Amino acid sequence: MPEPSELVSGLVAGLPGWLPNQRWFAGKDRPVLAVRPLRSTVLHDGDPLLVHVMVEVEQQDRREPYQLLVGDRHELPDHLRSSWIGPGYEASADSDATAPLLDLIAGNSRVDTLVFETEPGVQLETGLRARPITSEQSNTSLVFGHQYILKLFRRLTPGPNPDLVRHRALHAVGCEHIAEPLGSITGELAGQPTTLGMLQPFVADAVDGWAMATTSVRDLMAEADLHADEVGGDFAAEAHRLGHAVGAVHSDLDRALGHEQLGPERLAGVVAAMQRRLDAVLTSVPELGAYEAELRAAFDKAVDAEESITVQHVHGDLHLGQVLRTVSGWLLIDFEGEPAAPAEDRVALHSPLRDVAGMLRSFDYAAHQLLVGQPEDHQLARRAMEWSRRNRDAFCDGYAEVATRSVGDPRGHATLLRAFELDKAVYEVAYEHANRPEWLTVPLSSIARITTEGDHQ
Ligand SMILES: Nc1ncnc2c1ncn2[C@@H]1O[C@H](COP(=O)(O)OP(=O)(O)O)[C@@H](O)[C@H]1O
Ligand SMILES: [Mg+2]
Repeated sequence: MPEPSELVSGLVAGLPGWLPNQRWFAGKDRPVLAVRPLRSTVLHDGDPLLVHVMVEVEQQDRREPYQLLVGDRHELPDHLRSSWIGPGYEASADSDATAPLLDLIAGNSRVDTLVFETEPGVQLETGLRARPITSEQSNTSLVFGHQYILKLFRRLTPGPNPDLVRHRALHAVGCEHIAEPLGSITGELAGQPTTLGMLQPFVADAVDGWAMATTSVRDLMAEADLHADEVGGDFAAEAHRLGHAVGAVHSDLDRALGHEQLGPERLAGVVAAMQRRLDAVLTSVPELGAYEAELRAAFDKAVDAEESITVQHVHGDLHLGQVLRTVSGWLLIDFEGEPAAPAEDRVALHSPLRDVAGMLRSFDYAAHQLLVGQPEDHQLARRAMEWSRRNRDAFCDGYAEVATRSVGDPRGHATLLRAFELDKAVYEVAYEHANRPEWLTVPLSSIARITTEGDHQ
C-alpha cells in the first residue's frame, strides 16, 4: 500500500471528477476547477488505514473546505466499490475503517490538531461498529451499534458549527425535544477551532415527520367518502404536539441564548432580503414571472405590518424531514440552518416565524406531493387542501399554547408569516426548477393560492 501522503495526494487529484456525484456536495451547479489538500491526519495506521483529510474545492468564484475520510486496504470488499476514488477510497461506508472514531471520542483523544472529546460527564460505550445511514442528507452520519449517531459535517465553515452550539445550549437548559449532544470532533481551519463532527444518541425506533405525514395523506386519499378528521390516519393530534415541541424549542433557545428586538429599519432589511431572493429566482425561472407583482406587494406589506420583530437563534431549516417522532414525543434535529445559505445567515438570529413558515410549507408539500403528475384531479386537490388546512391549524394551535410570552399565535402575525411563507416558496421554486422540474407546480400553485387568498391559510 502507498504511504499515506502519496495516497492522499493521488486521491485528491481524482476528486474533481468524483465530488460532483456525491449527494452531500454543495457545488453541483458549477464545475470543480481544482481540489487542494489542506491537512491530512492519520487516525488509524493499519489495514484498513484511516486518514482524515480536509480539502479546499475551487469553483469559479468560490473556494470551500470539505472533509473526507480516506481509506486504504489490501482487499476492497464489493460493497465499497462505489466509494473507490483511486488510489484509495472514501471510507465513511467502511465499518472496519470507521470504528476507531467512536473510540477516539470516548478516550478524549488528540491526534495532531484534531480534538476528539465527550461532553462533560458523558461515558460512552466503545468497540461498536458503524454503518452510514442511507437516507438523503447534506452531511454524512454514521450509526454506531444501535446506540450512537455521529454526524460528520461535509462542507466546513471555520468556527463552531451552529448545530453543535444550539444542541449544547438547548441541553444546558434541559430541553426535552432534542437528542442530547454526547461528543464532538474539532479541527483547525483558517486558524480557528472548527466543528467537524457531533455525536448523539441514536433513536432507533424513531419515525420522521415526513414519513408519518405522507402516510396520513395517503390514508385520506384512499377514503374518498371520509373527511380528514374521520380517517384512521388523521395527523392533527401529532401536528398539535409538534407545534408544542417547536414552541418549546424556540422558548428554550431564547432562554439559553437570548433574543434581540429589531426596529422598523431592520425589519425593512429582512424584507429587502426576500425581494433580492425573488430577483435572483426570477432570472432563472420564467414561470415565476406571472406572480412577481403579487409577491412584491406581499413582501412590501410586511414592512409596515409590525412595529418591530423579535429575532433569536432558531432552527433555520425546519420541515417535516427534520423532526423525529419517538415513543415519548417529537425531537427536532439538524440545527445547521438552510444548507444552501451563506454561513453568516446560518448563524444569524432570525424571527421564529421563519421556522413556523418552514413547517407550514412542509405540511402543504406533504398534502400536495400525491398530486404531482395529476394536476387536473380536482377532487384530490380539494382533499389535499383540507388535510393541509387542518394540520397547519393544529400545528399553530399547539405552537400558540407554548409561545405565549414570545410571538404567541403565529396567525396573529398573518402578514409577516405570509411573507416568510412566500419567501420559502420562492426558494422551493428555485430548488424544484434545478432538481425536480415536475414538482415545480407544488410551490407555484401555493404561491398562486397564498397571494390571491387574503390570509396565509
Ligand atoms: N438522533 C437520531 N436518531 C435517529 N436518527 C437520526 C438521529 N439524528 C439524525 N437521524 C437521521 O439522520 C438523518 C440525517 O440527520 P440530519 O441531522 O438531518 O443530517 P443532515 O445535516 O445530513 O441533513 C435524519 O433525517 C434522520 O433520519
Ligand atoms: Mg437534515
